[in-house]
Amino acid sequence: MKTFKAFAPATIANLNVGFDILGLALQNIGDTVEITPNQLNYNRITEIVNGANLPFDVSKNSCSVVIQKMQESINDLQGLDIKITKGFASGSGMGSSSASSAAAAMAYNLMQNNRFSKLELIQFAGEGERIACGAAHFDNVAPAIMKGITLVKDYNCVLKLPVLEDLFALVIFQQIEIKTAYSRSILPQNIPLKDTVSQMANIGSFVSSLYTNDYKLFSKSMIDLIAEPHRSNLIPNFKEMKAIALQNEAIAFGISGSGPSVFCLVKGKNSLENIQIKIENYLNNKNVVYESYTSKIE
Ligand code: HSE
Repeated sequence: MKTFKAFAPATIANLNVGFDILGLALQNIGDTVEITPNQLNYNRITEIVNGANLPFDVSKNSCSVVIQKMQESINDLQGLDIKITKGFASGSGMGSSSASSAAAAMAYNLMQNNRFSKLELIQFAGEGERIACGAAHFDNVAPAIMKGITLVKDYNCVLKLPVLEDLFALVIFQQIEIKTAYSRSILPQNIPLKDTVSQMANIGSFVSSLYTNDYKLFSKSMIDLIAEPHRSNLIPNFKEMKAIALQNEAIAFGISGSGPSVFCLVKGKNSLENIQIKIENYLNNKNVVYESYTSKIE
């Protein structure tokens, strides 16, 4: 029996200025899903590598839910064995459930000779997000499937945006878990008009900066008035890491998705290494347990 395998990357959702609508794909860090027809009439999760806390129950696991929805849409009744290999921690804020959901959607699409469009894959993968955190948000699954930087206008319209030349990301994951559902529950349901106006201006100028490759405008636009004021309190050393990054030529610093990971965007590899060393020195001196990831963005 042939096996179909797909990889989907970790992602940074929100990007400060686009709560629930913007996302960016990292490279090399991510999850892999393999599916193999099993000659039964039901699906099974046969193995989860590096995901001790994830469910084997096919009605509760994001990957099997995504695959089942895709099968239902084309009346495919064949049973599948599903193997999931996690490349980074759940609850890290780097789009763990979406990397698995996106990889599952892509592996099944491969098995079906690529009959689904990218938008359909994003919509199916969003169902995995619904299972994982209670809300079908698409800001992680969109870049996991389309790569680069994406903007989710709505369920039926996902835009791929240009990426600044020479853009690198540093992600720091202090090893605590923050559940997305909890991190969403602490956000206010209403935003003051003044902040809404600023946020609209910032998302507009952010998009413009990508099309004009304007690093200064990009940096001035990357402000989070919605989530950071509430979520940053959940993340140890947030203020200190932000100060180090911004004092050392980072063009943006913020919370990756719902946290606890934080991200830093920089122009050029030298800046990246400089900031990485300084933040790591700070955390090492405080005996913090963390992992750091770097990636070129393209
Ligand atoms: N936009 C989502 C949130 C991303 O911030 O809750 C979760 O990874």
